[in-house]
Amino acid sequence: MNSEIARATELLLRDALVAIPTETVYGLAGNALSDRAVARIYEAKGRPAFNPLIVHVSSLEQAMQYADFNDVAARLARHFWPGPLTLVLPRKPGCALSLLTSAGLDSIALRIPSHPLALELLRESNLPLAAPSANRSGRISPTSARHVYEELADKVSLILDGGDCRIGIESTVVDACGELPAILRRGMVSRESIQQLLGRPISTANDTTDTPKSPGMLQSHYAPQKPLRLNAHTVSDDEALLAFGVPLPGAMQTAQLSASRNLEEAAANLFRMLRELDATPARAIAAMPIPMQGLGEAINDRLQRAAS
Ligand code: TXA
Ligand code: MG
Repeated sequence: MNSEIARATELLLRDALVAIPTETVYGLAGNALSDRAVARIYEAKGRPAFNPLIVHVSSLEQAMQYADFNDVAARLARHFWPGPLTLVLPRKPGCALSLLTSAGLDSIALRIPSHPLALELLRESNLPLAAPSANRSGRISPTSARHVYEELADKVSLILDGGDCRIGIESTVVDACGELPAILRRGMVSRESIQQLLGRPISTANDTTDTPKSPGMLQSHYAPQKPLRLNAHTVSDDEALLAFGVPLPGAMQTAQLSASRNLEEAAANLFRMLRELDATPARAIAAMPIPMQGLGEAINDRLQRAAS
């Protein structure tokens, strides 16, 4: 194994972040199987909310372990992968990818990049890599190792230098959950080329910005079935408690986001614990207050959406 790839693998296995070149833009990569690594990605980007991330894999077989492909999705993948097309697909039951990569959605965005260094890392490490563009939130996507250094030097453990990105704009994102695919973000793979392959027209979401649909607007967006009560300072015996720090006494059941009030740990646990509490016999979920700093903003944003 190339020593840079070996070093990157070692870091990724320790939940550290590695910037990777792709043919589109540089990505800020973390182990997509690890909630902690994915929480670190959000922390590094300084996003005020959780946007779902793209998970990069090395083969269609690997992708099929994590998501359900209907015939249309399989055709798109066979034709355009490796390459600048991201497919949003239903997560398979028991999918091992961190729920935080999906930001609580029931879908997952997958792609196989074509950059040789990215592919080598994906193959050699045998890890699925969550990687948004390696810029801070609200800034433009980096297309060289130097850009990444300027954006995120203090947040990444290693930057793999793969030269200038060949394409320089982000991948086309296609929702392929249903029978009729829809373009969620425009990119290098054009609508025409997709239509030509499938032999029928496909729709484009009317929004052309980088984040076409906020997670809160997506249909498959996960919200707990039970009522969710925020900023709880007391809890009753028919409620399940989402604790942060010393848990309130008296709950029917408690899930601890972080006993030490660590926001990264809380972010890593959030989506899984919401689901766990939702599956208990409790009447409602009560969430303890989370401070509005750093990742706390994104956690509060998500809790507010889930509560409304
Ligand atoms: O070219 C690219 O796609 C680059 C390289 C690094 O692969 N990555 C990238 O990631 O641009 P990011 O996180 O900056 O953009 C991901 C896009 C966002 O528009 C996000 O809303 C959408 O993909 N997305 C991810 N998962 C989704 C999901 N489950 N449902 C709908 N949209 C999703
Ligand atoms: Mg981006």
